[in-house]
Amino acid sequence: MRQQAAFKIKPSLYPVFNMVNNRHISLILLSALLYSQAGAASDAIEPLKARYQKLGALPFDVDRGRQLWNRKVLHNRSGKMRSCSNCHGTTFTKPGRHIRTRKVIKPLSVAIEPSRFNSMKKVEKWFKRNCKWTFSRPCSPQEKGDILTFIQFETWRK
Ligand code: HEC
Repeated sequence: MRQQAAFKIKPSLYPVFNMVNNRHISLILLSALLYSQAGAASDAIEPLKARYQKLGALPFDVDRGRQLWNRKVLHNRSGKMRSCSNCHGTTFTKPGRHIRTRKVIKPLSVAIEPSRFNSMKKVEKWFKRNCKWTFSRPCSPQEKGDILTFIQFETWRK
């Protein structure tokens, strides 16, 4: 019987007990929040930027990335101007649309689309294709790092 008594909570201690309990709940909520934040973090961007830096890129710049993203380049064969925003738009929390196939392209923001930038190989593959399609040449490590930095910067903009 003595043991049982030890587990009884005095009524005067109820608020304390509740606080401990609430803190427990807050901790669960906090971990859930941290987890969801972690879910919003891409796995590929930082390692790619480190790779580009090793290849000689200078510190990356959001504005240079933005200019590149919006730059319109004349495509010789079609006679049309092309830019990254043709298919992805300029608001990365919103979906894009492929200018030729008209297919919807998922938003580039990892906040909206957690599968974004989760593979270095995939990012490099699309940089290769899209820089060629848009600029008729590959993008340099500096340009790729600037663009990724710009996309990161715009993660939450609606
Ligand atoms: C003609 C349409 C089109 C244009 C223009 C275009 N893209 Fe894309 N892009 C795509 C498609 C299609 C995908 C693959 C499908 C997807 O990821 O939803 C893609 C995927 C990507 C990805 C991969 C993202 C990830 O989650 O790994 C990156 C990075 C990217 N594009 C960057 C660019 C850049 C930089 C430019 C301009 C130089 C550009 N794109 C221009 C159509 C385009």
